Amino acid sequence: MLAGAIERLGREALVFAVLRALTLVGGVAALFVVPLRAEHELHFLPLLAGFVLYKAALLALLLKWAERSREIFFATLAADLAVVFLLVWFTGGGESHFYLLFYPLVALNAYYFGPGIGVFAAAAASGLLAAANWLVVPAAPWAHVAARAAILGLLALALGHVAVRERRARARVEQLNREMEAAMARLARAEQLAAVGRLSAKMAHEVRNPLGAINLNVDMLGDIVRQCPGPAMSEAHDLISDIHTEIRALAELTDEYLVAARLSRLRLEKEPLNDLVIEAVGLLRPVAARQGVAIELDLDDVLPALASDGAMLRQAVRNLLKNSLEILPHGGRIVVSTRCAGDQAVITVADSGPGVPPEAAAHLFEPFFTTKARGTGLGLPIVQQIARQHGGEVTWANRPGGGAEFTIRLPLRGGSDD
Ligand SMILES: Nc1ncnc2c1ncn2[C@@H]1O[C@H](COP(=O)(O)OP(=O)(O)O)[C@@H](O)[C@H]1O
Ligand SMILES: [Mg+2]
Repeated sequence: MLAGAIERLGREALVFAVLRALTLVGGVAALFVVPLRAEHELHFLPLLAGFVLYKAALLALLLKWAERSREIFFATLAADLAVVFLLVWFTGGGESHFYLLFYPLVALNAYYFGPGIGVFAAAAASGLLAAANWLVVPAAPWAHVAARAAILGLLALALGHVAVRERRARARVEQLNREMEAAMARLARAEQLAAVGRLSAKMAHEVRNPLGAINLNVDMLGDIVRQCPGPAMSEAHDLISDIHTEIRALAELTDEYLVAARLSRLRLEKEPLNDLVIEAVGLLRPVAARQGVAIELDLDDVLPALASDGAMLRQAVRNLLKNSLEILPHGGRIVVSTRCAGDQAVITVADSGPGVPPEAAAHLFEPFFTTKARGTGLGLPIVQQIARQHGGEVTWANRPGGGAEFTIRLPLRGGSDD
């Protein structure tokens, strides 16, 4: 339990507490060798007992409320100053050498709390020094007291300032450290993903060719079946249609891997953005019609032509449309719009589906993240990569009325091609 409390207190606070205690212990111990004034002998024992009690209580407080150590230190600053004041007073006021104890005390507090509280401690110490000088007759020359006070103030300012700078530098180093660790973790993950990506692209490539051959053979089988009428053959025809559907799904899946692997340099050409969007939508209209989903276009006619890689942008819009189609029930609706916003061209795909589930929100653009049984998790990372290669960005939001909305923004002055 003690070890836990010390750990919570932190190294800096612990060192501060020990040094502060040592300053005063040293002072009190010195009383044994310094002759006390006759009228103060009487008070020596109560002072010693009070001091021991005070330090024990402080330690207990610190261990109990380790996280409030700053407040505790600040609250007990006055008590520490008072102890030194009593020492000075009892051993000769202005003539006493115990005023020296104010220096380590002010220095420690200035270092721990910064220049503000440091100067405050110096001012309080100077006041107490003056009071001790005034209480003991004969008083030392006031010029001495003033000089000591000035040095106390200087000490507090200088050390407080150094402490603030040092702490700032330390915080910066710690932050850089954290950032570097995060960057290393990202790099390690990126390397892992790149390796997995290469492997999956190779797999996809190997699967794609036999898939084409199977498709061709199933087509021929379909022709044969059509030439042999009869009830059994009608069932065979349905089965062949099912096989076709599965082959199509598999082909799309492998295509996504292949596109992801092929994203390389852009081939920029000036092309009207609206044409690209219309083509991408046209490709998926049959699928939407089969599903009973309506795709509406809301295009900005005065959108300037944009230097872009048409094939890639079509791919990006297609990926967004596919995601909407995959999630929409019969009767669903997709609106694809384009508009100009400042120096950006904006393409938006909004659907009337259930929206992005909260648990998926943070991972949408991570490669291989999917919530679908047969998803690749590559659609959105591809969209993001394409948008970035054009110097743009893709963002998303769940619409207040329901459904998700994905927005691609592209700079109109052309993007980078790396
Ligand atoms: N229009 C959308 N509505 C709701 N969720 C979506 C939408 N588009 C994408 N998502 C979510 O983002 C995930 C990742 O999409 P994506 O990268 O295209 O991979 P995949 O489609 O293979 O799952 C999806 O699994 C889904 O959970
Ligand atoms: Mg997808």
